[in-house]
Amino acid sequence: MKFTARANGKVNLHLGVGEVRADGYHDLSTVFMAVDRPETVTLTTLEGGERHPDASPLSFISEMKTTYHVQKPDEDLDTPKNLAWKAVDSICTGYMGILGQDEWREDIKPDLPMMRLEVDKTVPVAGGMAGGSADAAAAVEAISALIAHYDRPLPEELFTYLVPALGADVPFAQMGGIALGTGRGDSLVPMMGRGKYWFAFLNPKVGLSTKDVFEKLDDLRFTYPSMVPHMDTTTLSRALVSGDPQLVGAAMHNDLEAAALALRPSLQQLIHDAEDAGAIRAMVSGSGPTVAALCGDEEAARGVVDKLTARGDIEGFAAHGPVGGVRLL
Ligand code: C5P
Repeated sequence: MKFTARANGKVNLHLGVGEVRADGYHDLSTVFMAVDRPETVTLTTLEGGERHPDASPLSFISEMKTTYHVQKPDEDLDTPKNLAWKAVDSICTGYMGILGQDEWREDIKPDLPMMRLEVDKTVPVAGGMAGGSADAAAAVEAISALIAHYDRPLPEELFTYLVPALGADVPFAQMGGIALGTGRGDSLVPMMGRGKYWFAFLNPKVGLSTKDVFEKLDDLRFTYPSMVPHMDTTTLSRALVSGDPQLVGAAMHNDLEAAALALRPSLQQLIHDAEDAGAIRAMVSGSGPTVAALCGDEEAARGVVDKLTARGDIEGFAAHGPVGGVRLL
């Protein structure tokens, strides 16, 4: 039996980063837009199947296989540390936890089968487009459907706790569309937007660690106190309602860009080249290193991709938003 779910990558049209909090996260004021770069997760039940030797005793995953439609990373990511794997384990553990609760059920607990986890990726790894978070969101959807099939739908409250714990971007990967994210970026309110926005996404193939980029911003702010947080999203929200990509481009902002550029100075040239090639506005996407270049239409976006990928050191694709959140296929 197979359960397949899909979620999309995202771009932050605004990313305001506040102070670091006691839990190590930063308060954000961010505007997410989901873009049509799908991550597809399939859980296949196995006849028998051994528990993976590195997995927790509560894991029902016996094997994992990722297919990359983007640059394949050097290290093997098909391990229990993968966020999609952790997402399945987390929901299964939550399920086992509530089985004992009388108000949920009193009859015999069914055994879940061992499973194979497959991930089909079109979002760059460690690229600042929340591909791993989309994998987690799709994995949660697939395992929830599997549990509902073997037993009954899980109570909604379980997801309220478990999903944000997987990562700050996972709730938006579930939701999709356009949203204002506050707190760690996981308190979401949908935003209005008109029109369709085309981007050229340009990825220099070697990822950046989100944690490193946030820490670099803290360092830079310590040295340069004038680097204040930009938490006001009013101009961007007006621009999104207008439906005019020129206005949206003018309102785009990313506080993490300076930190990503400090860690990877070559991104400055990439931003410049994307704008030179016809983008309205190019900016580091999330924590980078992917550069999101907003363009006037699909043709312009494909033109920017063709021009900048011609030299071979950049991976690129055109994609549009907003698109939806997670769904079961
Ligand atoms: O939640 P996620 O695992 O995606 O975050 C990766 C890292 O990015 C965190 O460990 C933290 O260092 C940093 N981060 C942050 N503030 C946020 C989101 C992420 O400092 N709001």
